[in-house]
Amino acid sequence: AKIAVFASGSGSNFEAIEEACRNGDLHAEIVIVVTDQPAAFVVERARQVDARIVAFQPKAFQSKNAYEEAILRELNDVGAEWLVLAGYMRLIGPVLLTAYQSHIINIHPSLLPAFPGKDAIGQAIAHGVKVTGVTVHLVDAGMDTGLILAQQAVDVVDGDAEKTAEVIHAVEHELYKDTLNVLFRR
Ligand code: GRF
Repeated sequence: AKIAVFASGSGSNFEAIEEACRNGDLHAEIVIVVTDQPAAFVVERARQVDARIVAFQPKAFQSKNAYEEAILRELNDVGAEWLVLAGYMRLIGPVLLTAYQSHIINIHPSLLPAFPGKDAIGQAIAHGVKVTGVTVHLVDAGMDTGLILAQQAVDVVDGDAEKTAEVIHAVEHELYKDTLNVLFRR
């Protein structure tokens, strides 16, 4: 499968996916990395592995549709078949949802539908839950609301966000790869 990875932040999930593609652990090829944050660390990681990068500033466009149409042209150029969101901090709009129906996947650091949106790990800690986790789901127009494909529970460590985040990220890297492999083998 030819995949586009969308990311706005550190890009540890991008790195795990990229490594798995290279090792043959994930049956996919990253054809492009899309970011809305040209200064994000994911850009650095993508450069290091010579990935093709598109870094448009949403503000430079007249509308969300125009922004996504520009991205769509890039995706078409490289033949991307799936959009894999990995810390992309923006809702996907109608342009990409229509072009990639049922082919947009996201990973979220909670057991959805609990704690959607930003800082899901912080939200879980603030609520005092003892178990949280990771969800991989199809993307729809809502915030972390699409069909759930896979989930894995993670124990909260010492009521501590940082320690829990470490475990969650390690789980994410495995669960994303495994779930994508199931999708792509069809
Ligand atoms: C991950 O926790 C992911 O679940 C969430 O954003 C974070 C991205 O982390 N959607 P990274 O940039 O891949 O390190």
